Amino acid sequence: MSEFRITRTLPEDAMAAALRADVQKGLTSDPKTLPPKWFYDARGSELFEQITELPEYYPTRAEREILAGRAAEIADALPARTLVELGSGSSEKTRHLIDALPRLHTYVPVDVSDTALEQAGRALVAERPGLNVHALIADFTAGLALPRSPGPRLLAFLGGTIGNLLPGERAEFLASVRALLSPGDALLLGTDLVKAEDVLVRAYDDGAGVTAAFNKNVLSVVNRELGADFEPDAFDHVALWDTTNEWIEMRLRSRTAQTVKVPALDLAVHFAAGEELRTEVSAKFRKDRVSVELAATGLELERWWTDGEERFALSLSVVR
Ligand code: SAH
Ligand code: TRP
Repeated sequence: MSEFRITRTLPEDAMAAALRADVQKGLTSDPKTLPPKWFYDARGSELFEQITELPEYYPTRAEREILAGRAAEIADALPARTLVELGSGSSEKTRHLIDALPRLHTYVPVDVSDTALEQAGRALVAERPGLNVHALIADFTAGLALPRSPGPRLLAFLGGTIGNLLPGERAEFLASVRALLSPGDALLLGTDLVKAEDVLVRAYDDGAGVTAAFNKNVLSVVNRELGADFEPDAFDHVALWDTTNEWIEMRLRSRTAQTVKVPALDLAVHFAAGEELRTEVSAKFRKDRVSVELAATGLELERWWTDGEERFALSLSVVR
């Protein structure tokens, strides 16, 4: 019989404290920033699912193509008994992996979004009798501890979410992931690849305005959690390609001069007309960079798979 468990490793008050600290720091920095993990409340997770279906947003389709075509090879290289997935969201593409792993005992989806974990976890145990799902509500950048379950472990980090970490955060994150793995375990990493600027920018600035709504949702989260009075429509969504850093940068541009109050922090934040708040980066990769960054944490890029149009890549590193 399959079992579904959901564990909150971060108490709700610790989450609230982290949000306050992030908002305090980000809104008093120059330039202003907000960290991306706060996008994903119930509405944010729902908007992200809509993004994955947009004609302009190719990464989900490209990664799904690779998973559908290569799941058997991945399972062959690492016949995991435990599949851990960081930032699992809806776990939709992951079904290809789950179904290809004949000895899979436990699936451990990890996400900050409790609603996404509830929905995905319940659906999976209902569909896959025999599979145990042990979901963790946790911040994967804040010292993760995994539940006990049989090895070998395959740790998947899909969706190109690693690109949402800044280079320093990425190095720290990869080192912490490496520390979770034992010999015989592996990391399966999804990275979006550098490509033509217009294709990249459209993926983050779609015609229907779903990405704009998603970006502005972070302001609604701050309003709800900290009593702020952001007027989301007083900001424009901006997505631009930074050629030096090879990342897409998402910003919110204040339409007018305005002051926003954040009562929970006893803070009044002034925005000049046209001033931009950085909400997220989404780094795009080349094979060399992935390989170098993995090597820096003692992981070797052993396999590299792309979709037919070479838009997205999955790499596999087995710990020896
Ligand atoms: N893997 C899915 C979802 C990608 S969106 C896919 O490929 O479609 C990024 C996911 O990571 C969201 O579900 C978000 O809630 C989660 N996330 C973002 N930052 C996080 C963090 N610091 N800790 C845990 N989960 C995080
Ligand atoms: N991991 C996704 C990506 O970088 C997240 C994402 C997609 C995103 N579109 C977004 C984050 C728009 C913020 C705004 O592709």
